[in-house]
Amino acid sequence: MKFLKTRRKRKRILNSDLDMGILSEKKLLIGVSGGIASYKVCEVIRQLTDLGASVQVVLTKHAANFVTALTFETLTNQPALTEMFPEDGMVATRHIDVPRMVDRLLICPATANLIGKIANGIADDLLSSMIMVAGAEKTTVCPAMNTDMWFNPIVQKNVDALRELGYSFIDPGFGELACRTEGIGKLASVERIVSRMRIELLYSNVFKGKNFLITAGPTREFLDPVRYLTNASSGKMGYALAEAALSRGANVKLITGPTVLDTPEGATLIEVNNAVEMEEAVKISYPSTDILVMAAAVADYAPIRASRSKIKKGKDDLTLGLRRTPDILGSLAKSKEERIHVGFAMETENLIANARKKIQEKNLDLIVANNLLVEGAGFETDTNVVTIIDREGGEMSLPNMSKRELALTIMDEVAAFVGTRSSQIKSAIHV
Ligand code: C5P
Repeated sequence: MKFLKTRRKRKRILNSDLDMGILSEKKLLIGVSGGIASYKVCEVIRQLTDLGASVQVVLTKHAANFVTALTFETLTNQPALTEMFPEDGMVATRHIDVPRMVDRLLICPATANLIGKIANGIADDLLSSMIMVAGAEKTTVCPAMNTDMWFNPIVQKNVDALRELGYSFIDPGFGELACRTEGIGKLASVERIVSRMRIELLYSNVFKGKNFLITAGPTREFLDPVRYLTNASSGKMGYALAEAALSRGANVKLITGPTVLDTPEGATLIEVNNAVEMEEAVKISYPSTDILVMAAAVADYAPIRASRSKIKKGKDDLTLGLRRTPDILGSLAKSKEERIHVGFAMETENLIANARKKIQEKNLDLIVANNLLVEGAGFETDTNVVTIIDREGGEMSLPNMSKRELALTIMDEVAAFVGTRSSQIKSAIHV
């Protein structure tokens, strides 16, 4: 049960002597906007400063109605900033200097208003100006708001636009909200935020120099020039994994079946149609691969014969003869050597037992198991509900989360495996 242990230990480790100074070289700017969840950021600050991070807070005027600057100054031992034009002798260019000096900017909580401002290029106060200077790569956004606000199409459009630009998000969770309703919109847990910041501060380049080969999307197995067998895969999970690996400094080749998705910035795209083409493309790139992630929903069967011309409709039923397609991941089990192999398992019954079997059969390090019948999981949705299982049998069940956040979480676990070959990562993640 390595993952379960890892999770429990992560929580405990925050207070262990070993971890106390782990972020001591790191500078973090926390932007607080005016939502009731702003009181929770105090605990986030507490835990991050316990880990040694130097934290400074910049808060909006609305946020100061919920938590005072004095509270943040006491917790961080640094001035908490609000005013664009300071009267206290501080330099007037601090909206540029401060975000440039820090390693990361965490916006927590991020209100619908602030998200709207960032997405539309508005910089009308100190925090929004600093966010504009910091840019997408340096910034993590932690939204919290009422469910109706979160699902307002304008807010969703703004969030999507920011994700496209490369802003990292820690998605809000489900629960009882300050307005006494239940729904999605609750600030992510302190544990989740601290753990993500820790990883983002320490490991943004964890995959530098590593070659990822990621497959995505469905395959199409043609029976004639017009008709084909396929499945409902959208490719969203595989593309999100490519983006997540790229954001951690990896080189990424993305072998994809037909999708309508945009190529992730920086990925090398190889487009294929059917399982045989996908196998060929994987095998060509495999020798230079360090980490193989097979997220594609490869068809298991293809027509024995594909007709060159359109099969004429007749009066009688038509019987199709199908053959097995190559098991791409399984066929590489013996050539794996030092590589890391990650597979996916999608089932409607006996999910975990089958996923465990697949780990052994396909010689995998990790398998991501998702049950198609669970709400929020599956092919065409933007969210997924999965259990990640490792080769030693440890498992970690994750709540419903966006495919993009899930991709980052999967990459964190891949980093733990890379870490077994690099002491720095080993001591910090895979304890
Ligand atoms: O054997 P099963 O299809 O359940 O295993 C799923 C995993 O194997 C996925 O990671 C999928 O991408 C991969 N796969 C493959 N070749 C196939 C079918 C699935 O590599 N023909």
